[in-house]
Amino acid sequence: MKIVIVYHSVTGTTAQLAEAIAAGCSSGMAVDVQLLRIEGEDIIQGRYRNSSLLDAIDQADGVIFGSPTFMGSVSSQFKAFADATAGDRWGKQLWADKVAAGFTVGTGYCGDTLHSLHYLQILAAQQGMLWTGLDLAGAGDVKSPNRLGAQAGLIVRAVDGAIEQPDLQTAFYLGQRVVRVVSRCMWQEQKPESGQQL
Ligand SMILES: Cc1cc2nc3c(=O)[nH]c(=O)nc-3n(C[C@H](O)[C@H](O)[C@H](O)COP(=O)(O)O)c2cc1C
Repeated sequence: MKIVIVYHSVTGTTAQLAEAIAAGCSSGMAVDVQLLRIEGEDIIQGRYRNSSLLDAIDQADGVIFGSPTFMGSVSSQFKAFADATAGDRWGKQLWADKVAAGFTVGTGYCGDTLHSLHYLQILAAQQGMLWTGLDLAGAGDVKSPNRLGAQAGLIVRAVDGAIEQPDLQTAFYLGQRVVRVVSRCMWQEQKPESGQQL
């Protein structure tokens, strides 16, 4: 099983979450986990140009997207990457049936961070991917995992670059969950009977 975590980070908080998610992915069965960081220098005249990062996603069974929330949405660097997944990848739905999940971080108590997760969900939907959120009921206890109560994915509030322990635990858990969901999909994978068409 191969899981990739595709993320952008300027000051390192999204990167810390990506690493905690990767640790969660690797905590059970043997999983090939790759951290794929979107770098600004790969954006030339507004276009994302790193084809090897995109090729690595082609090979993955599960893809976890992450971006800081900037002005109520994903960063422009993440969006440049997302735009580069159009063309044949979208036209031929080359990522269809891959499991997808997402995470974001902001400094606001709300910070409109849910909008970033919704964007990541829509990106996954456009690519025919299967979204998985968090099966953790947020109890409203600030010391418990999923303390912000988002179930569409992982939302974290970080002030001055510090990520609190419950959020790192939730990130770890998201990695475990994606591995679990991908395992189920692989186990149940079936080809449609011959002759069946749209
Ligand atoms: C240009 C800019 C816009 C931002 N907009 C938001 C926002 O809309 N909501 C929010 O909660 N935080 C916002 N922030 C705070 C960042 O999301 C926060 O600092 C985050 O931890 C940065 O992630 P990084 O360390 O991975 O770069 C903004 C920061 C910058 C620099």
